Amino acid sequence: MPKGNTPEQVTGMKFPSFFEEDRQEVEAALEPLLPREDTPPASIHRAIRYSVFAGGKRIRPILCLEAARIFDPKSQAALRAGCALEFIHTYSLIHDDLPALDNDDLRRGKPTCHKKFGEATAILAGDALLTLAFATLAEAQVEPARRVAVIREVAAAAGTVDGMVGGQVADLEAQGKDIAPEMLEYIHRSKTAALIRASVVAGALCGGAAEADVAQLGRFGGNIGWAFQVVDDILDVEESSAALGKTAGKDQAQRKATYPALYGLEKSHQMATELATRAIKELEPYGERAQRLRELAEFLVLRRA
Ligand code: FPP
Ligand code: MG
Repeated sequence: MPKGNTPEQVTGMKFPSFFEEDRQEVEAALEPLLPREDTPPASIHRAIRYSVFAGGKRIRPILCLEAARIFDPKSQAALRAGCALEFIHTYSLIHDDLPALDNDDLRRGKPTCHKKFGEATAILAGDALLTLAFATLAEAQVEPARRVAVIREVAAAAGTVDGMVGGQVADLEAQGKDIAPEMLEYIHRSKTAALIRASVVAGALCGGAAEADVAQLGRFGGNIGWAFQVVDDILDVEESSAALGKTAGKDQAQRKATYPALYGLEKSHQMATELATRAIKELEPYGERAQRLRELAEFLVLRRA
């Protein structure tokens, strides 16, 4: 995404009205959490900053922030936790693009980290972002028991058992095979939905939500996270590389396990809408206070990039 342009200007998508303000808050919060470019060894810090500031939509931090605001409109801890989630998300994109994984040259409209800085630096930039995420969470200004709960949730979501790495392994192993619907669900829920769910849960925890509310919002997050990956699969078929900022049509070329491959496009659209509807139902008890999360859920299924 060219510098100075907002995601809305670049993509032409209709973002929720509050999105741009939240996004700018996230950009400003990310900046001081990263070592400066000239901090030795400068090469790794250049690579980290290149990928973090390549123009992501910041959906995970915004979900975290808005989940917290249901319970505490001023939560600063949620902003920090959201940044940590963006670091983990960025690490996952850097590693996903490596030749040993999806082998991609384009991400967020720019050359991938390894194309620009070499494979060794890209691997280390991903490692560093994952570590930095937990250092960032350790300093979240929220009571210690909640801080530990956030760390536990985020670590599990990034991990191997029903988490992002586990989902990625299953995704790689499913490539080129005919897989059962249950396995496809497992891949999407682990590879993508777990971190999105953790973003909402971390926000609720930082905002001071009661245990039952954290669980309720976790169900919201799990379902929109799942819908998000179904939509990602759909966009890979329906959109251009220019619109997506990453190589389109790759899933089919690599014979990936996707919703369109298993169910076709029309059914996939239906399934994404159903998941978002199910997610939005979880917000009923919160009434008007959850309006922003509702708008985010709608946006996530209607997005075109
Ligand atoms: C696009 O997010 C990203 C996804 C849909 C997630 C795909 C899952 C992985 C890449 C997991 C990889 C895991 C490992 C361990 C390598 P987005 O549309 O929010 O992207 P943006 O931040 O660029 O806007
Ligand atoms: Mg992948």
